[in-house]
Amino acid sequence: MIRQAIIPLAGHGTRLLPLTSVYAKELLPINGKAGLEYILEECVNAGIKEIIFIISKKKEIIKKYFYNDKFYKMIIKKKKDSRINAEYKKILKYKKMIKFVYQNNPEGTGDAVLKAKKKIKDKYFLMLLPDDLIIKRNCSKDMISIHYKKKCSVMASMRVNKKTVSRWGIYSKKFNINKNNFIINDVIEKPSIKSAPSNNAVIGRYILPKKIFTKLLNQKKGKGGEIHITDAIRKLIHDGEKFIGHNFKGKYLDCGSMKGYIKSSMEISKL
Ligand code: G1P
Repeated sequence: MIRQAIIPLAGHGTRLLPLTSVYAKELLPINGKAGLEYILEECVNAGIKEIIFIISKKKEIIKKYFYNDKFYKMIIKKKKDSRINAEYKKILKYKKMIKFVYQNNPEGTGDAVLKAKKKIKDKYFLMLLPDDLIIKRNCSKDMISIHYKKKCSVMASMRVNKKTVSRWGIYSKKFNINKNNFIINDVIEKPSIKSAPSNNAVIGRYILPKKIFTKLLNQKKGKGGEIHITDAIRKLIHDGEKFIGHNFKGKYLDCGSMKGYIKSSMEISKL
């Protein structure tokens, strides 16, 4: 069963400065709703029961967002507002599901995942990168059903412009299972255009085996001096672990850059 999800949230969000100098990028509103709530909705609708947030001391505002009961109770007492009531109920529902772990020096996604090691109970878990919104289709739900059928790890994939490969993790395919799924032969973090094995990029949805922690414990820093989850995944693949790449349906929105963030609000407002 895939019951737990982890969400790395300790990043500085420099691509969204100055907004992120005082605020967490994951709480920035996208069409009137905190970006992180879209990710939480995706988790809940995919059947996830527990969500582990990897935050840092600098991002405690995220904890506060879900732990502001006193404030809500005071407002609700004063005002009978059904919208606020409903929002508070939703926050309470999420609060019950969320656990927090800390990554005070953000050293990459691999390092973030390692911080959640003690909390992971089952053989497989889901990871979502909050910068990557996927609308019009629940990508996590689709990946979980592939996992149940094939009993292996699954990662989201999308074709990108060849010129941009050095911004992504890039897959090398072993073979296609069908139109939307393939067996991953290898994955390389942010390769140069010359060395990229394809233009199939990793998008931030992963079903990973608990085994990944044994690789992460010895994982050295990679591209840009960060500990990448991609490098640990690569080691598992080389050991013979089966990973499926899933060309997801739905529309990808990059909320981590200013241009993408602005576009996300416009796209979601059209839904
Ligand atoms: C991360 C991953 C990368 C992946 C990307 C998707 O990169 O390391 O493999 O393609 O997310 O958004 P980042 O956005 O942290 O640079």
